[in-house]
Amino acid sequence: MAKEIPKHIGIIMDGNGRWAKKRFLPRILGHRRGAEALDRLLKAADGMGIEHITVYAFSTENWKRAEDEVSGLMNLMREYIQDYIRDNETSRLKIDSIGDLSVLDEDIQQNIKLLKEISKDKPGINLHIAINYGGRDEIKRAFKTMANAIKSGEIAPDEISEELIASYLDTAGVPDPELIIRTSGEYRLSNFLPWQSAYSEFYFTDKLWPDFTIDDLKDAIASYQNRDRRFGGRNEGK
Ligand code: FPP
Repeated sequence: MAKEIPKHIGIIMDGNGRWAKKRFLPRILGHRRGAEALDRLLKAADGMGIEHITVYAFSTENWKRAEDEVSGLMNLMREYIQDYIRDNETSRLKIDSIGDLSVLDEDIQQNIKLLKEISKDKPGINLHIAINYGGRDEIKRAFKTMANAIKSGEIAPDEISEELIASYLDTAGVPDPELIIRTSGEYRLSNFLPWQSAYSEFYFTDKLWPDFTIDDLKDAIASYQNRDRRFGGRNEGK
């Protein structure tokens, strides 16, 4: 039985809109409460032994939302990234992003780059923010880079292995998530880390994301620890 704390947890922070709707508040306020919930969670989870947390902040599909919600979410991320830069001195978080940043506003791209640089030696949790991220888009971009590497003779087709493919993904160098959490009673992966989650355990809760607390995270980890991870093998003696 797996008893360790997962090294990498992926989180699909779902239900901000419904949280706001229930209170007759604008959706963007639900997202703001969601960002605050994440902030509290990261502080409370520090020191538990979790090395990586990847959060789904904005998917490649989220552009289809109403214009004011898209710009509201971008502004919220802009603000949070600025806050993380401001608080870097006292923060323990190492922060970077996955996803295609190239279409984001220039200032957001620059600030994410800056934040990654100034936080890279921090001792705490490595937070990977998925922005304009979609698993299929990530794999497509990896294919393009690999195809060019083959064309230029840098790699030979025979050298393609699972490890080589993983090294072309946005998550290169990061261990696969052992645990993926989705809130708000939805039971889908929604294009979140499809390659990396091949052997992940999934934890679903009805809690809406803004209500998710450190106790909920501990419940998710306890549930993960009680499962038998066999990777297709028999897990002899367990
Ligand atoms: C899904 O809820 C949530 C999102 C699309 C956005 C999540 C973003 C945040 C919590 C902000 C994070 C900020 C940083 C800096 C990481 P939904 O709108 O789909 O909820 P619904 O299904 O109830 O409508």
